[in-house]
Amino acid sequence: MVELTLPKNSTVGKGRHHPAPAGTKTVKRFRIYRWNPEGTGNPVWDTYDVDADAMGPMVLDALIHIKNDIDATLTFRRSCREGVCGSCAMNIGGRNTLACTHGWEEVPGKEVVISPLPHLPVIKDLVPDMALFYAQYASIEPWLHTTTPEPEREWRQSEEDRAKLDGLYECILCACCTTSCPSYWWNGEKYLGPATLLQARRWLVDSRDEATGERLDALEDPFKLYRCHTIMNCAQVCPKGLNPAKAIGEIKAMLVERVV
Ligand code: SF4
Ligand code: SF4
Ligand code: FES
Repeated sequence: MVELTLPKNSTVGKGRHHPAPAGTKTVKRFRIYRWNPEGTGNPVWDTYDVDADAMGPMVLDALIHIKNDIDATLTFRRSCREGVCGSCAMNIGGRNTLACTHGWEEVPGKEVVISPLPHLPVIKDLVPDMALFYAQYASIEPWLHTTTPEPEREWRQSEEDRAKLDGLYECILCACCTTSCPSYWWNGEKYLGPATLLQARRWLVDSRDEATGERLDALEDPFKLYRCHTIMNCAQVCPKGLNPAKAIGEIKAMLVERVV
């Protein structure tokens, strides 16, 4: 009989419970994934019963309140608090989203369960290792490629051509889409994933870019692009309302168009 063993650190145990302060009128419970690389054990779920009147409305407000007033060891990323930097992406109530734009009252159920973005190595608590994600983004060379001499003042673009970047330039590289994509879970080392491919499309349609052919050559690969099976998780979770699956379909169409 085959014996199955779970890899190290793959089961999440019960952690500490932090009760609400005495006299709290309205309690909201948060259950948060904790893992410390300096410890020896598996990750745990810590629960925090928080005074709902003592924190702001967003999940990030709750995390900051917990860190400041209850448990300074809790670790997470955040910067802008405005849905602009993408650094507070995490899994909240089973859905990848931004902690700073997601209200804790919006999360269904009695408790708010928070874990790191799925299928990435964890550095600590809610902080995932984004190294591969950024390396894949860098691989598409996300900057203007030109061969004509640089204009004296600026590269001009018509309003119509500028409009072609709408739905693409707004991406904040939060990785909510990529880490919700089943194809990326299974082939993350080779498949570029929805965020990077949406960005690739952004440079392919830029009227000022002069490397469209080379960019398409680089993407014409059975793994980098064609692992997308149009499952659409990416479009459902994007906190900026973007549609990476559509962008991927448009890249595939460009590859077909250039051979017919
Ligand atoms: S549509 Fe493609 S990129 Fe988006 S989740 Fe599905 S497989 Fe991944
Ligand atoms: S497409 Fe949306 S979900 Fe994906 S990285 Fe960009 S902003 Fe985040
Ligand atoms: S803190 Fe910048 S997007 Fe949430």
